Amino acid sequence: MDKEAGKKRAGQEAAKFVERGMTLGLGTGSTAKHFVDALAPKAADGWQLKGVPTSEATRRHAESIGIEIIEPDETTIIDLAVDGTDEADPNLNLIKGGGGALLREKIVANAAQKFIVIADKSKRVAALGAFPLPIEIEPFGWATTIRNIRTGLKTAGFDNLKLELRIHQGEVFKSDGNHLIADCALGRIDDPATLDQLLGAIPGVIETGLFCGLTDIIIYGDEDGVSIEKA
Ligand code: 5RP
Repeated sequence: MDKEAGKKRAGQEAAKFVERGMTLGLGTGSTAKHFVDALAPKAADGWQLKGVPTSEATRRHAESIGIEIIEPDETTIIDLAVDGTDEADPNLNLIKGGGGALLREKIVANAAQKFIVIADKSKRVAALGAFPLPIEIEPFGWATTIRNIRTGLKTAGFDNLKLELRIHQGEVFKSDGNHLIADCALGRIDDPATLDQLLGAIPGVIETGLFCGLTDIIIYGDEDGVSIEKA
């Protein structure tokens, strides 16, 4: 399957949900980039779109195609947020954060009136967990936090977990908010919402890449077209 074509189709389909004057949450990653690209003709046509970007990379891209950028606190309404995902299950739960933007992505998805996820079809899984779960953590005391995450996960029955601090191009990865990411290979997550709560209760954990109960619609693209799943 041509994944890139699937991503582009999904991004273009999501752009059909956009209306004039909307304030949009703009996701991060290669699929979300296709959505922003699909907004370019609308922006050029005077649709007066505003964008709340979830990363500095998305901010630069959206600005370059003429979308007015606003901060989340400059608006009380985000009409629609559109973002990619690393995995999605049949209940529309997600693992996100492969690009390290999970905290801002979750804030924006949660604030939006509607959250549409776009993905190539390979991201659809029967159960989450093959993709290592990103967990955003505070740099202060990070080793202690990672030890506590490991202990918590073992207590929850994840015996063969692999937990690593994210390294990018030989350096410790820092999010746009200057936090660290621990990537946690769990194998299979049967109850993502409970796991999210367990991890979120550990001091030093800022956010997890588990997005549960946030998605309204997923648009999958593949070489044949798009398919849509609704909550
Ligand atoms: C970034 C994300 C991305 O949406 C996710 O990693 C998917 O990326 P891509 O569309 O490039 O496959 O969560 O933090």
